[in-house]
Amino acid sequence: MMNNGATTDAAVLKDSTDSWLDEVAACSQLEQLEQLRVDLLGRKGRLTEQLKSLSTLPIDERRERGAALNQQRERLEVAIASRKQALQNAALAERLTNESIDLTLSPQPERQGRVHPISQTTAELLTIFRGLGFAIGEGSDVVDDWDNFGSLNFQPHHPARESQDSFFLQGRDANGLPTLLRTQTSSAQIKLMRQFGAPLAMVVPGKVYRQDSDATHSPMFHQLEGFVIDRGISFAHLKGCLQAVLTRFFGIPDLPMRFRPHYFPFTEPSAEVDIAWSRSKGRIDRDGDKWLEILGAGMIHPTVLRNGGIDPNEYQGFAFGMGLDRLTMLKYGIKDLRPFFEGDLRWLGHYGFSPFGGGS
Ligand code: DAH
Repeated sequence: MMNNGATTDAAVLKDSTDSWLDEVAACSQLEQLEQLRVDLLGRKGRLTEQLKSLSTLPIDERRERGAALNQQRERLEVAIASRKQALQNAALAERLTNESIDLTLSPQPERQGRVHPISQTTAELLTIFRGLGFAIGEGSDVVDDWDNFGSLNFQPHHPARESQDSFFLQGRDANGLPTLLRTQTSSAQIKLMRQFGAPLAMVVPGKVYRQDSDATHSPMFHQLEGFVIDRGISFAHLKGCLQAVLTRFFGIPDLPMRFRPHYFPFTEPSAEVDIAWSRSKGRIDRDGDKWLEILGAGMIHPTVLRNGGIDPNEYQGFAFGMGLDRLTMLKYGIKDLRPFFEGDLRWLGHYGFSPFGGGS
């Protein structure tokens, strides 16, 4: 009885294998073949279901039928793999005959874009700062009064907080504070201090906005903020760092620089840094007859460190903010700031840089 049953099963199995093999052979598309594979051998496939139902059979029958089913699965797998290879070969052969490139067509030169001088300056400076171990951070263009002023120790009636100096947005943010387009990248300091803690060495490049517009001022311009916070940081570190960066940036070994005392609410002491410029030669020069301001800097005020969640009794820091547009004009001898933002491709063709790093 059992033997009979097994023989009949084997016959049924053989039939179904043959018809499944026919189905495989009939597939003319790769997707169709994959569909069939899932349909037969997939988790709920026809053959898989039969394998699953083995558990209901008596032990002898299960062994015999199990072996037959496994053989059948192997045959199917081999048939599917070889059909797949055949279909792939056919598809490739078809592409090779149908697709061709006309090598006789003359090349169409593509217009090559140029790197904007400010992007070039930013990239150069970031490379220099990265080499000194600085991380690169980001701030938002839209900030609130606390980020841009309050946390940086600006007094309530500071003129920069007036609407004629800064671009305020309508409404207030979730903290009930007025929002504005940041007037300085220093506005990123507090959030980054809170996010990363001390010690920290970070630069933040970005756009800033002020109500100012003439040949050397634009309502939108670019700054690069930097700050280093660690134990025992002094003004000497600030000087050494800026000297190293600017010397490399301008490629002038004994770059003439001076630190001139100044006031910023967020640093104490504070300075502005000037470099010497020769009016007659029209460039930075050791024997220059004019000092040009390029950045503000100082030792981070203890109140600012505290606002950033850092204990000023344990950590000290220096900070600086440089004008990227001014640095670009000085390095590349560009006299007028306005064309920087006018999008004139002829100007960019002249002053822009090759995207592959090769000068002009
Ligand atoms: N935020 C200043 C400005 O926009 C520049 C500046 C000065 C940044 C001193 C600093 C700094 O980090 O320490 O004029």
